[in-house]
Amino acid sequence: MTSTLLTGVAELATLDPDLDGVDRTDGLGLVRDAAVVVSDGQVQWLGPAATAPASDRKVDLGGRALVPAFVDSHTHLVFAGDRAAEFAARMTGTAYDGGGIANTVTATREATDDELRSLVAGRVAEMHAQGTGTVEIKSGYGLTVADEVRALRIAAEFTDEVTFLGGHVIPAEFADRRADYVELVTGPMLDTARESARWIDVFCEPASAHAFTGEESRHILEAGRDAGLLLRVHGNQLGQGPGVQLAVELGAASVDHCTHLAGTDVDALAAARETTTATLLPGVEFSTRSRYPDARALIDAGVSLALATDCNPGTCYSSSMPFVIALAVREMGMTPAEALRAATVGAATSLRRNDLGRVKVGGPALLTVLDAPSYLHLCYRPGVPIAALLNSSRLDGTSRLDQLGG
Ligand code: NIG
Ligand code: FE
Repeated sequence: MTSTLLTGVAELATLDPDLDGVDRTDGLGLVRDAAVVVSDGQVQWLGPAATAPASDRKVDLGGRALVPAFVDSHTHLVFAGDRAAEFAARMTGTAYDGGGIANTVTATREATDDELRSLVAGRVAEMHAQGTGTVEIKSGYGLTVADEVRALRIAAEFTDEVTFLGGHVIPAEFADRRADYVELVTGPMLDTARESARWIDVFCEPASAHAFTGEESRHILEAGRDAGLLLRVHGNQLGQGPGVQLAVELGAASVDHCTHLAGTDVDALAAARETTTATLLPGVEFSTRSRYPDARALIDAGVSLALATDCNPGTCYSSSMPFVIALAVREMGMTPAEALRAATVGAATSLRRNDLGRVKVGGPALLTVLDAPSYLHLCYRPGVPIAALLNSSRLDGTSRLDQLGG
């Protein structure tokens, strides 16, 4: 197997502060003037360039920085249709309440398998081009047994991290029969979905008539757990509610949004830090003109944090982890190092994937190259496309890198 030596790495963020010889400041495990040897899709060696072993070929990154590929642990990529008008209305004061999800459900049901597949492929390619190496994908715009299972199967063509979200909203045809829909989700839909999904999620939001109450959410999550799925929760997005407490009680790996938290929610998340990650989605606050959660307070309380895009047609149609990192620093009080950690190893933890989010020997060669000398430029140059997954790099002179990575 051909080995490739990546040199000219001005700064390598391993995200492994326990490695010998790394700079332990901020927990990023930085190596300056670094090199990495990659072979067979794996990292074989990393360290100071001066001590790099011989390899079959050499690629000079020309003073760029390398970070672990971003892990986007919360997305809804399987959808058709467009809700730009809803976004425009929100910018002039209309509140988000989840009602627009019904429009996406209609458009998604009408799309052919090939149309949906090609829409997902385009969105995943967009993510790779911005440095994301792993993506979680939810269903949730089908809401019939056949349409949910179709979404899960298409998602599984792109990732192992597939999430069943039949409990996204109550579909229009069940508006007066909520309990019947919950029975469908926890019965026939779950029975089929479990074959393609690793995770189950629910939009627990009593503040929205479209979403699920605490009791309905508990029923859905417990049924999913009993069917062998791991748990994630959409919680506390639109107001304070039971989502966070339920996620912690049931040992969910992640509770996502966490926009409106009571002090008791913060305490519960801090106590559960080894089990439950709070995943913040600041692109949603940006796109719904909502207040941002206080990430600084969560970190100071000892909560385990992840960052993700929530890429979806309603609350955040952005696939950009660099955008999310920049928002987290500018709007939520995170340091650039904390934001990079949350977007890599933090999000990997929320997916129970210890193999992702770090650059380590024996780990996958999922590397993101920055057209910049330091990870700090992820926030310092907002909106500038400096990040790309190494194997989809469009940087000058790096076309040979197309053969690398996952
Ligand atoms: O995570 N809140 C629930 N689900 C999505 C939005 C879905 C939509 O509006 O289409 C979210 O924000
Ligand atoms: Fe979501």
